Amino acid sequence: MYWVGVDPLQQVVSRGEAMDLIPWLSIRWQTTCPCSGHYFWWDGDGLALKSAEFDLRSRVHVDFVHGSQARRIKAATGEALTRAVGCQKGLRPSVIDTTAGLGGDLSVLANLGCKVLAMERDPVVAALLVDALRRAEESEIEWCDRLRFRYADSAQVISCVSHGIVYLDPMFPKERKAAASLPMRVLQELDQTTYDPDRLLEAALDSDAARVVVKRPIRADFLGGRRPSSQLKAKTVRFDLYPKRKLTIEDCASFEEVIET
Ligand SMILES: C[S@@+](CC[C@H](N)C(=O)[O-])C[C@H]1O[C@@H](n2cnc3c(N)ncnc32)[C@H](O)[C@@H]1O
Repeated sequence: MYWVGVDPLQQVVSRGEAMDLIPWLSIRWQTTCPCSGHYFWWDGDGLALKSAEFDLRSRVHVDFVHGSQARRIKAATGEALTRAVGCQKGLRPSVIDTTAGLGGDLSVLANLGCKVLAMERDPVVAALLVDALRRAEESEIEWCDRLRFRYADSAQVISCVSHGIVYLDPMFPKERKAAASLPMRVLQELDQTTYDPDRLLEAALDSDAARVVVKRPIRADFLGGRRPSSQLKAKTVRFDLYPKRKLTIEDCASFEEVIET
């Protein structure tokens, strides 16, 4: 399947270099916007996704260097997420982010000093994330050294995990009304035909990770009906904790065993 890409200034060299990092997408580039559907957009800010049904300024674009996510990364020290994965003085557990999405959580954790292996299985979301990570590396953002990314279905590799934290942030149940913003609409449209977060949790619990952490809407049922040992609550979400043993310094190692599978 081909995607349409719009590169109004024909920045062929920089675009080509960026696209080399995203071999799973086939994009036919043109200089004008299509009349319908979603399309990729290339400009000095890197890769974005736009839609003919939305205003030209609306876009899905991940940016770890400027804007709201950059501010969240800098501000996050004691937020519930970091406590949920067991960050404490002298201990920064390594985290497998099995549902990387647009990289909000993984960037906070890597910035705090956790080694993170992130996986995303949706080709469009993965492309936007990879391009944002490329720009963050080019801006010499220090936490990029602690981050590895794989375009993969994490359910396929999770059984190899031998230490650290397995983190799940599954999609919230689909709302029936159409989302108002383009990023929400795109996330709503993700292919969920083979999406089985209950099975992802079972696989995580079967692995040798020290702890499994699941992010849920504050009032949602437990994932897979599995009651956690404890919970940490934020304003609109909570983190369900499934500890299997005490965290040690061994849990701060990188995930070579998973990267090599
Ligand atoms: C709610 S979003 C995650 C948001 C992310 N935590 C953040 O902070 O930006 C869930 C993402 O998980 C991805 N996903 C679901 N199941 C997956 C799997 N088995 N392997 C990899 N990614 C998966 C979906 O494609 C979606 O992008």
